[in-house]
This record gives sequence, C-alpha cells and structure tokens, in this order.
Amino acid sequence: MDRTTSGIYGLDELLGGGFPKKRAILVSGACGTGKSIFSMQFAYRGILEAEEPAVFVTFDEMPDKIRQDMLNFKWNLKELEDNDLLAIVDATSARAGVPSEEEHSILPGQLDIDKLLVDILGVARNIGAKRLVIDSIPAMASQLEQESQIRRAVLKLAYIVSRSGLTTIFTSEIPEQSLGSGAAMQFSKYEVEEYVADGVIILNFLGVGTGATRTLYVRKMRGTKHSLEIHPLEITEKGIVVKKVEEVFK
Ligand SMILES: Nc1ncnc2c1ncn2[C@@H]1O[C@H](COP(=O)(O)OP(=O)(O)O)[C@@H](O)[C@H]1O
Ligand SMILES: [Mg+2]
Repeated sequence: MDRTTSGIYGLDELLGGGFPKKRAILVSGACGTGKSIFSMQFAYRGILEAEEPAVFVTFDEMPDKIRQDMLNFKWNLKELEDNDLLAIVDATSARAGVPSEEEHSILPGQLDIDKLLVDILGVARNIGAKRLVIDSIPAMASQLEQESQIRRAVLKLAYIVSRSGLTTIFTSEIPEQSLGSGAAMQFSKYEVEEYVADGVIILNFLGVGTGATRTLYVRKMRGTKHSLEIHPLEITEKGIVVKKVEEVFK
C-alpha cells in the first residue's frame, strides 16, 4: 500500500510508514485536544514535505483566525495560499448566514451536501490537491436536521472522497472520556464516521489540570500494522509531536 507522511512528528513510524494514501482518516477527540492543529499540520507539512497541495474546509473557525493562530508554529499559511498550494475554504460564514470575504467559500444556502462536495472538489482540482481536510463533521452536520440526513451526508462524503483520490482527514467531536475507565468508549459523534473511515485516531487527555497529559491512540488503520499503545502527545512550538511512552516516563 502506498503511504504518505501524516505530517505529525513521531507518528509515521507508529503507523508503519505514514497514512495510507488516498484514504480517509478520522481524527476524533473532545474539544481542545488538538484536532484542528493536527489537521492543519497534516495539510501544511504535507505541502512542504511531500509536495502534496491541500484543501482545508473549515466549518468551526474563521480562516483569518486559523492563519493567525498557526503563526505560533511559524506556519505561514498565507504564503502557501498565494502560491496555490493551500486553499482554505470558508464554510463558517455560510453557517452564520453571512457573506464571506474569502477567495474560497461556501455560499449561504449552499450547505446542501451535494453542492458542498462539488464546490470542494472544484477547488481541489484547481490547485491539484492531494490532501483534503474537513474540520469538522459535527459543525458541517449542524446544518442538517435529522440524524438520518447526517448519516447519509457522511456516507456520501466518504464515498466521494474515496473516489477522488485525496488523502483525507475529517474531524469529529466526542465527549471527554478516560480511556480504560470501563465505560463504553465512543469514537465519533454520529458513529457513522468511524465506520466509513479507513483509519481512526483518538486524541485525549489523561488526568486533569496541570498533571494532564495529552495522548494519541490509533484505534484503527486499515491495511497496516500499527501501534496499539496510548502515546503521549505534546503541542510544541513546531507543532504536534507524538512520543513513545518510554521517552516520556523514563
Ligand atoms: N502554540 C501553542 N502551543 C501549545 N499549545 C497550544 C498552542 N496553540 C494551541 N494550543 C493548545 O491546543 C488547543 C487547541 O487545539 P485545537 O486543535 O484547536 O483543538 P480542537 O480542534 O480539538 O478543539 C488549545 O486549547 C491549547 O491547549
Ligand atoms: Mg477544532
């Protein structure tokens, strides 16, 4: 199977060489666990390290805020956008029902899943994208009223994406949970996301307050042997770094 770098420091070796190319990976976790940073790092470093242009569709945070926040990691998104290597598609304005000032945006009233997919694939074609991020499924689905509609939308999204040849991350939100607490774990908000994804990565916190450790756990990655450990994760000045347990608790 063809692999491509996840862009996350320390992760490729836990996956036997990186993400399977042209597949969909679900990144799930509670709020603040680092899903959006993870997704942008996948896009940003994929462009720099693997020469794979990326489309980042944001339903949660406004593009300008993302551009500014990512400067903390010295990631100059604007420069990549100016060179047509990265396209940030603003779907936040459409959600709010206001016009967007962005070059790429979803028009209010165009949140219909079919139109949305056509728009996204159009942008992807224009820049020759090899990577796609949908952040996040729950925010996208907040437009749809019934759970059955949401399931159908996620199925359609996964189907189109698998046909498009784009290596894709979509994010989902789950309640805070402690791994191994005995309670049944939930891996995605609507549960359909984890079934359609070829890979599932769970971001979590162990403990609370200053003693908390961020963790990453590979729940599933089709077609590859992968680590089954819970790995410490750090958000550093260069982005997300995944470690091995022995590196942290020596
Ligand atoms: N520059 C940074 N250095 C260290 N941690 C950061 C930095 N920027 C954000 N964070 C941490 O990442 C969290 C947000 O990550 P984000 O990817 O937006 O989470 P999610 O999308 O899962 O809600 C913040 O709550 C903060 O704890
Ligand atoms: Mg987020």
